Amino acid sequence: MDIKIVKVPAKKRKLKPADESKLGFGQIFTDHMFTMQYFEGKGWYDPKIAPYKPLALDPAAMCLHYGQLIFEGMKAYWGKDGSIFLFRPVEALKKLVLLEKDWIPRGSGTSLYIRPTMIATETAIGVHPSNAYLFFIIVGPVGAYYPEGFSPTKIYVIEDYVRAAPGGIGFCKAAANYAASLLASQFAIKQGYTQVLWLDAVERKYVEEVGTSNIFFVIKDELITPPLSGSILPGVTRDSVIKLARSWGVKVSERSLSMDEIVAAAADGTMQEAFASGTAAIVSPIGKIAFRGKEYTFQDGGVGNLTRRLYDEILQIQYGEKDDPFGWRIRIP
Ligand code: COI
Repeated sequence: MDIKIVKVPAKKRKLKPADESKLGFGQIFTDHMFTMQYFEGKGWYDPKIAPYKPLALDPAAMCLHYGQLIFEGMKAYWGKDGSIFLFRPVEALKKLVLLEKDWIPRGSGTSLYIRPTMIATETAIGVHPSNAYLFFIIVGPVGAYYPEGFSPTKIYVIEDYVRAAPGGIGFCKAAANYAASLLASQFAIKQGYTQVLWLDAVERKYVEEVGTSNIFFVIKDELITPPLSGSILPGVTRDSVIKLARSWGVKVSERSLSMDEIVAAAADGTMQEAFASGTAAIVSPIGKIAFRGKEYTFQDGGVGNLTRRLYDEILQIQYGEKDDPFGWRIRIP
C-alpha cells in the first residue's frame, strides 16, 4: 500500500503527557491519524497519514443515522531493548505507530492504544448498506482502563437489560453494541459498581460478558469462560488467556455457566477466582459480584494466583520481557 504522509511541523506538535502515572484511558490522542476511503466499484483509495483533526462529515452520512460503525482496539509497547512491539495486530498501522513512537509511554502497564475504526459515509436517508466508507486509525497513550487499576473491581449482575441476543451483532465490535449497553452500565455505576455482568438474552440465566470485556471464573481448579455463542465478543485477550492457561496444564472449559452455579460455588467455597479480560482491561480481577440484592466476595476481595500469573505473563510477552511461544508479538519496523 502506498501511504501518503503529511507530517505536522515540529513546532506545532502537541505537548506529550508529563506524568505517565496519570494517563487514565482514552483521553489523549497523538499528532497524526491514518485515513483511507472506500467506494463501491472503486475499492479502497487515498490511504494517508496526516495531522489529527476532526472529520468532515455530511450530516446525512449513514453512520450518523443507522449506526454503521465498527472498530478494533490494540496496543503498542516499548520493549526494554528499545524495540517497539505490537500484540496480535491487524495490518496497516505500523507506519502510524512508528511516526508516533515518541508518544508511546514507558511506565509499567502503559501503552499506546490503537483504535482502527470504519464508518459508513454514503450520504442518504434510507436503511441499506452504505456504498462508501471511511477507515481511520487514531492512537493515544493510555494507562489502566478501570480507575481501580489492577485492584479488584465490583460488578453488578444486570437482569433487566441484555447486551446482545442470538442472531444479533453481539459478536462484533459494532458501535451499536456499546450504545445498547450504556443505560445498564450507568445504572451499575450509580449503585457504586465498576461495570455490569451481562446474562444471556433468552433465559437470563447464563453469564455472557462483563462490561466491555470477556469474563472468566475459576471453580474447583477449572478455568471457565462462556462459549462463543454468537452474542459475545471473541476477544483476542480471551483467546490469549485460554491458550496460555492450557499451555500451563490448567483445565480450561468454554462452557455455559449459570448464576446459580456461581452463587453455589461462592457459598460453598469452591469459587477460587474471577477476572475480566480485554485489550483495554488486560486481565482485571473481580473482587465482588452483586446479584439479586446480595454481594458475593471472591478471593477475599484480593487478586487470585492464576489472575496475577496471567496478567504478568501477558504483559511480559507484550513488553518483550518473556519468550513469545505463540508468535503473538510483532516487532516494528
Ligand atoms: C478494548 O478492550 O480494546 C475495547 O475496545 C473495550 C473498550 C475500550 C470499549
